[in-house]
Amino acid sequence: MSREERKKRYDAFLEALTKQAQEEEGKDAKEQKFTQLIPSEEKVTLRDFLLKKVLGRGSFGKVMLVRKKDNQKYYAMKILKKESVIARNQVEHTKAERKILQQLQHPFLMTLRYAFQSSAKLYLVLDFYQGGELFFHLKMMKRFTEQTARVYVGEIALALGYLHSLDVIYRDLKPENILLDPQGHVCLTDFGLAKEVSEGDQTNSFCGTPEYLAPEIVAGKPHDKAVDWWSLGILLYELTVGIPPYYSQNIDVMYQKIEKGVLRFPPFLSEPCKELIIDLLNRNPANRCGSRDDVEDIKAHAFFADVDWNLMMEKKILPDYQPEVRGDQAALFDSEFTREKVQDTFVQASTLVNRNAAAFEDFSFQQGIGIGVNNDSGNGEQTQSNGLATISQEPDTTGA
Ligand SMILES: Nc1ncnc2c1ncn2[C@@H]1O[C@H](COP(=O)(O)OP(=O)(O)O)[C@@H](O)[C@H]1O
Ligand SMILES: [Mg+2]
Repeated sequence: MSREERKKRYDAFLEALTKQAQEEEGKDAKEQKFTQLIPSEEKVTLRDFLLKKVLGRGSFGKVMLVRKKDNQKYYAMKILKKESVIARNQVEHTKAERKILQQLQHPFLMTLRYAFQSSAKLYLVLDFYQGGELFFHLKMMKRFTEQTARVYVGEIALALGYLHSLDVIYRDLKPENILLDPQGHVCLTDFGLAKEVSEGDQTNSFCGTPEYLAPEIVAGKPHDKAVDWWSLGILLYELTVGIPPYYSQNIDVMYQKIEKGVLRFPPFLSEPCKELIIDLLNRNPANRCGSRDDVEDIKAHAFFADVDWNLMMEKKILPDYQPEVRGDQAALFDSEFTREKVQDTFVQASTLVNRNAAAFEDFSFQQGIGIGVNNDSGNGEQTQSNGLATISQEPDTTGA
């Protein structure tokens, strides 16, 4: 067969596949029943959105750029397959993600607009951040100036401080989970590993992203909010130096380095920047910066001496780096995803899902009208995101 013939056959094959996928998508929107357990005039379902692009892909499903038909606004839709969520024992994590997201009102934290479900999938509709992942920009820029990193880390510190004030530990800080708005301000997203703890409580699940794990987690010890301050130290290092401090391709070596490795700095970092990194990367969580008065410890640090925190909170301190957000809405997202065909494939609810139908009863939500869900820990799973892998292994408390 000639090259041309081969290409023709391949194109015809692709076309048939696309048609089939589109039919399936239509079927999903037409035939599926969507539930939204909210007493509201506006019943929002998949039918209210046009699916535009794939923005990212996690282990439970994908995140798509969508446009709401009535107000023409863009949103990011995180779609989770119930089957994957159940199979990986992540039901409680997913419910916690929905419940925590729903209560957030902070300039540097993601806002949930709608949540609904079909028999096979869960849908979270979030504000769309056109600037893309900080990870994408770090890869492109290699590293940032201390001035830019100061704004990013300052804004994230405020976000973490607010979460901690709600008794939520975030546990998955990394540049993949930080998005940029068109002005270059940051927004923390992905509450898949966030956990509610009571004041003074500790938790001992093993989760997070290897590069960003605190030594007490690596050692399997109970941990608390201080793990977020450790990962903030890793973030400041990675943003200003270009790689995380204890990086190794061999994960066991990386864990050894996190527990015992020497912290080394390139010559170009300023003293206050090095000092803040050293104070955040204190291996003793009781002495770590942030453990005395939480975010106030970080705000009082010499690295932030010139920062007016009220201005920072009002997004009035501009980083000296802005994403180029002209034209294509998804231009700043990884083409590995945005090249993908746009579809929300029809998935028949499996027996596994049907048997667990009650698990997602309270999921649906609409901004302004909330409902409660309980939040206990689930167990065991490993996920892969665009850049770094996220690990989550919780002790099995269900006895199942
Ligand atoms: N609100 C959003 N705006 C723009 N992109 C988003 C948004 N939410 C998620 N994304 C993209 O999708 C990716 C995966 O979403 P995330 O919530 O982190 O899921 P996962 O739990 O699979 O890591 C993100 O890293 C980001 O690239
Ligand atoms: Mg993520």
